[in-house]
Amino acid sequence: AKFTIVDKETCIACGACGATAPDIFDYDDEGIAYVRLDNNKGTATVPSELEDDLLDAYEECPTESIKIFNKES
Ligand code: F3S
Repeated sequence: AKFTIVDKETCIACGACGATAPDIFDYDDEGIAYVRLDNNKGTATVPSELEDDLLDAYEECPTESIKIFNKES
């Protein structure tokens, strides 16, 4: 299972992640991204059908602010 979190300290509000994976990422009032699945806590399993979108967003983020964790379950 995959989990994800945005490092809001390094996100530059480029907007690529939410465009690529709108079911996973949204933006706060300042345009900084967060994971909408769990309010950026990194506790929600990313649904398997969204894993491709997650990887695309991960690769597109210019600041490597998207972190992905794998956990066995
Ligand atoms: Fe920020 Fe990267 Fe998304 S810079 S808006 S986390 S693509």
